[in-house]
Amino acid sequence: MQTRIAIMEGDITQVAADAIVNAANTSLLGGGGVDGAIHRAAGPQLLDECRKFGGCPTGEARITGGYRLPACYVIHTPGPIWRGGGQDEDALLARCYQNCLALAAAHGCRTVAFPSISTGVYHFPLDRAAAIAIREIAGFLAGHTLPERVTMVCFDPRSARAYRAALAAYSAGA
Ligand code: APR
Repeated sequence: MQTRIAIMEGDITQVAADAIVNAANTSLLGGGGVDGAIHRAAGPQLLDECRKFGGCPTGEARITGGYRLPACYVIHTPGPIWRGGGQDEDALLARCYQNCLALAAAHGCRTVAFPSISTGVYHFPLDRAAAIAIREIAGFLAGHTLPERVTMVCFDPRSARAYRAALAAYSAGA
């Protein structure tokens, strides 16, 4: 299972996966961070398509074209804002990964790339988020042939270390 999960450092807008995931907000109308980078790289047609959804609840996911991005699709998911851990943040983050993977599989995506959802502006604790992400990705892959491969694209060395540690811990415990 773990051979189907990779951790890399880089800019997700340059990753030629079948689908890349956007850490969006519930408006789906763009923002800063990876959301801003994806919209800038995809071009204005991405926002035009996003407008049609009329927003997206936290934990759910919506799929669009990739436009000028190397990826065929963008899967947008609003992660939870960290408010101390008492407002279902863990479960909502888990749902982001579950729903993105389900949408990717339904669209025949063989490769999917995720950013570190909610660990930037939304301040979700990094190690906690990494453990949830790896658990949900590994759990989904155990029961599905698609996607064949999932890559966590980390924007900085600290995030990459956290996801590598989470994958190692999961593999040790599996
Ligand atoms: N490629 C990969 N990862 C990136 C990129 C990029 N080009 N740019 C930023 N990141 C990383 C951040 O360093 C962080 O580790 O994505 C992770 C998520 O951070 P944010 O983009 O701030 O997303 P999040 O914490 O989920 O907050 C979402 O921020 O940008 C707004 O519109 C967005 O309101 C929403 C909120």
